[in-house]
Amino acid sequence: MTDVVKSYPPSQKGGDPVVAIDGVSIEVEHGDVYGIIGYSGAGKSTLVRLVNGLEKATSGSIVVNGTEITSLKERSMRTVRGDIGMIFQQFNLFNSKTVAKNVAYPLEVAGRPAAEITARVTEMLAFVGLSDKAKNYPDQLSGGQKQRVGIARALATSPSLLLADEATSALDPETTSEVLSLLDRVNRELGVTIILITHEMDVIRSLATKVAVMDGGRIVERGDVFDVFSRPQNPASARFVSTVVQGVPSPVEVQTLRTRHDGRIVTFSFRDGNNSQAQVFLDLAATGIRFELVYGGINDIRGRAFGHLTLALQGEYAAIDAALARIGSYSEVTEVH
Ligand SMILES: Nc1ncnc2c1ncn2[C@@H]1O[C@H](COP(=O)(O)OP(=O)(O)O)[C@@H](O)[C@H]1O
Ligand SMILES: [Mg+2]
Repeated sequence: MTDVVKSYPPSQKGGDPVVAIDGVSIEVEHGDVYGIIGYSGAGKSTLVRLVNGLEKATSGSIVVNGTEITSLKERSMRTVRGDIGMIFQQFNLFNSKTVAKNVAYPLEVAGRPAAEITARVTEMLAFVGLSDKAKNYPDQLSGGQKQRVGIARALATSPSLLLADEATSALDPETTSEVLSLLDRVNRELGVTIILITHEMDVIRSLATKVAVMDGGRIVERGDVFDVFSRPQNPASARFVSTVVQGVPSPVEVQTLRTRHDGRIVTFSFRDGNNSQAQVFLDLAATGIRFELVYGGINDIRGRAFGHLTLALQGEYAAIDAALARIGSYSEVTEVH
């Protein structure tokens, strides 16, 4: 999507329109798990409704699988929507239908032959591990099982794109990771592209390959998940990252460190692929600066590591400056004030 704007009429007469999406451009490639994170009200759900054509953009261009959808008539939009699956926070299952009937529903709407529907429902329920629940009703299932039915239903017609709007936000942490690993299989084994909307950074960390941070209807930062987590550039992204990243002391923790340790407090940040942690200690030792490790942590993002070490340094001011400058050539150095 390019330069997309969506504004809603003012809620009160004479008020300003609500600009829910304010000039957003995102390119999702086939096979991506593209995470979109933002606080409540950032515009995430609006974005999803624009992609599946439930709402029309005020301006800008949205291309889904090669089709420009912003000016499509409802009839042609239905064809495009046939290639998009959708799952929701509240699952949106039909409570009066069995699990099997829920999964069959989109196939029935598409007018597929009965034998094909039966075969496909069996296949999908096996894929999500719910073959034994086919005859149950949604009320008889746990939240995680309901979402697995939601996933089976969303994928029944073999769409190439799955939109997941806060799909794990109503689930406890254990069930969340079960659903996330199922979504990982959906991406890897079925090759389905996923747009993953969430306000939880942990969800992005475990599943997404790329991430865009939304704030006030705009994308304030985007990139490879590892890059954004290890080096966030925007204050809003840094706040999200700090909810899951280990090893950076919070302002309150910095105050505590100060009362416990003398000297200058400096955080060294590392990204994978080098042995710079060890080199920091060697460089400091070589200059005769006294140092003490006071805080730290290592993070793993889909198999790649990055970390932060905070040291209290004591010695001559100029000597410490010289050492920090040298270390700054291979590690990110942040003095904590
Ligand atoms: N149908 C609507 N009419 C008016 N304002 C809306 C409508 N839908 C969303 N908004 C407003 O757009 C903004 C973004 O909402 P939403 O996309 O639901 O955010 P998120 O999903 O990130 O919480 C909010 O300020 C919300 O109040
Ligand atoms: Mg929302």
